Amino acid sequence: MGILLGVNIDHVATLRQARGGSEPSVIDAALICERCGVNGITIHLREDRRHIQDADLFQIKERISIKLNLEMALSDDVISVAKKAKPHMVTIVPEKRMEVTTEGGLDVVSNFEKIKSLVEDFKQSGIASSLFIEPDMKTIDFSHKTGAEYVEFHTGSYSLKTESSEIDYELKRLYDAAAAATAAGLIVNAGHGLNYTNVIPVLKMEKLHELNIGHSIISRSVFTGLESAVIEMKNILDRG
Ligand code: PXP
Repeated sequence: MGILLGVNIDHVATLRQARGGSEPSVIDAALICERCGVNGITIHLREDRRHIQDADLFQIKERISIKLNLEMALSDDVISVAKKAKPHMVTIVPEKRMEVTTEGGLDVVSNFEKIKSLVEDFKQSGIASSLFIEPDMKTIDFSHKTGAEYVEFHTGSYSLKTESSEIDYELKRLYDAAAAATAAGLIVNAGHGLNYTNVIPVLKMEKLHELNIGHSIISRSVFTGLESAVIEMKNILDRG
């Protein structure tokens, strides 16, 4: 089996929220992705509800048969919605109100006790946990100790580099981190800022399980349609 694709459909909701109506439908987007054979749908229920709404979460969970991965911050409000909705997996992310998108990885060291007890709580409810972290050895060690099953490495720094020496440096960090996380028994996912070109070297990460990709796929879909944009990315991942 190749590397799995989770499609982040937040930006379908961003477009819908721009007019406040019901178009474009995030349910239709999720169902199209499912038809294309992706592994999962990823959505981020932000504290400010700027794109995905609580109702989207419950409806998507109801309508899809593939995995639903809910990205969420350590916010009591969102945690209580997540416990009711019971997605298959949660990815715990840092969140700042003014940011355009998720900046940096989760500070697992400072929030260790809170994360550990939340992971345990979710485990009791049959929900798997993933921690969205920088490719950093100390953070990997603490992530493992929380009991989380997965880590998702933040590929944002890598995706922003333009100089080849800097790109190589960031890739090495990702490769080393994937090897260390795998050795610790964590399942390795990655994502953020990946597109149809820069994703290719990322596929060489050791035992890479799944990539979560949103912005580049939804952007391409404006011109090609969602099905074609998803299949094109899926083919790249399948080729490994
Ligand atoms: N993974 C996580 C944890 C994220 O927060 C995001 C952005 O919501 C993504 C993956 C997808 O990033 P992008 O939209 O840049 O592909």
